[in-house]
Parts: sequence; structure tokens; C-alpha cells
Amino acid sequence: MKKKFLNILKKKNKTKIVCLTSYSKNISKIIDKYCDITLVGDSLANVLYGMENTHKVSLGMMINHAKSVRKGVKKSLMVVDMPKGSYKNTKEALKNAKKIIKETKCDAIKIESNKKNYNIIKNLVKSKIQVMGHIGFTPQFKKKFNIEGNDYASKRKLIKEALEIERAGSFSIVLECIKKDTSKKISEILKIPTIGIGSSINCDGQVLVTDDLLGMSGFYPRFVKKYANLNFLIEKAVQRYSKDVKNKNFPKSKNSF
Ligand code: KIV
Repeated sequence: MKKKFLNILKKKNKTKIVCLTSYSKNISKIIDKYCDITLVGDSLANVLYGMENTHKVSLGMMINHAKSVRKGVKKSLMVVDMPKGSYKNTKEALKNAKKIIKETKCDAIKIESNKKNYNIIKNLVKSKIQVMGHIGFTPQFKKKFNIEGNDYASKRKLIKEALEIERAGSFSIVLECIKKDTSKKISEILKIPTIGIGSSINCDGQVLVTDDLLGMSGFYPRFVKKYANLNFLIEKAVQRYSKDVKNKNFPKSKNSF
């Protein structure tokens, strides 16, 4: 296994793993300095394309954004989401994962669990493709947002699912919107690191959608912390630009040839 992956695995029970999403070069350049993992998430469906959910994201969309991200990522581990429908069976999954890796030079791919696709992970890993799993709220397979691991039965199911994904060979796993005692248990049981989103401090690492933390997406559920209000800053800048153009204050002579 490459050094980059071993470094991530070594962090378990020692230091937290920091992960953020990115869909383009400029943001990636900044994220790369402070994060262990840069994730090209299919959340770009909602965040960039204004889609209702992630179900219609194509392989081409993921590849194009990942190519841009690759230009900004130097040191962090770059993971690309496989879009819904691109890993329906082992053959398709292998073909499409190879295509993503070949065209984007990413380090790993992420696939959401539908509680049945463990063989797909196993087959990818057998072909030397590194896989990040994803359980709990899995937007590709769910219509409605819900918190997972609320009761005993659902806790047991999630633990079993996480163990299956680890056994299949994944190097890490995203726990999305899982109750904190369940994410604690899963993180304790698994040898691979867990990366939480809406799943409490009990995970080995944390991921957020960058546009949410920058205050750009307009989506601020309880598990998001807004670290900036870029919408406000961008609006102010655009307002000033618009005023300058209308009042003939821009472009000035120094901005002209
Ligand atoms: O698509 C995405 O951004 C994700 C993260 C929320 C984990 O899967």
C-alpha cells in the first residue's frame, strides 16, 4: 500500500483526519494545505448544479471536476465519488473506477453502500483500486434525509455493514448522519479510520462540504459550522463592481491599454 494511505491509516486513535470536498482547482489549492483528504464529492449535484439530489450526476461530470481538482492537489489524498449507476455490478464498477483513476489521476474512489455491494468493493480492491466506503445517510440510495443508528436494530445493522466494508478491503469509511453512540461503537470496532459528517466527534476524522462551511451553499443543517460568510463578501464585491461600472469609476486609465 502506498505511503499516502499508510499515513491516513496511522492516524487512527492518534490524530484526527481532516477532509473537505472540492470541485475545482483554486479551492483545492487551499484545501490541500490543511487537509489529509480532498474529496471530489457528488454533492456537486446540489451545490454546483442546483440539482434536487445526486441521482443524475454522470461519470463525465465527476471526471471533469476531478481533473480540475487534480491541478490543485499536491499532498493530500484525492478521493473521487463514483456516481450513482456507475457501479451497478462488479464489471461496470471496475471499468468505471479504472476510467476515473486513469483520467483524473486520483488516489482512490468512494462508493456508497446499499448494504449489498460488498463484492463490488472486494473486486475493486483485488484490482488494486483503493476504496473509501460510505454508510449511514447515503444520498444516492435515499430519497429523504434521516438520522441513522437511532435504535438498537439499526445500530446493529450499521455495525454489520461497516464490518463488511472493512472486510471487503476499504481503507476508510464515511459515516454520514449517524447517532453519536453508534458512530463511537463503529469507530472503536473498525481498524480502518472512520470519517464523520453529522456523526459527532467520535469518528477518526471529519468531512464537510466546503461550500457549506464557507457560507456559500445556503444549506446549514445542525452538523455544519459556518466558518465564513462568502455569500455576503461576494455580494458586496459584486455590488461595488456594478456601482463602479455604472458610475464610470471602472475601468480607470490604469486598467486600460
Ligand atoms: O458527496 C459528498 O460531498 C460526500 C460527503 C458529504 C461525504 O459524499
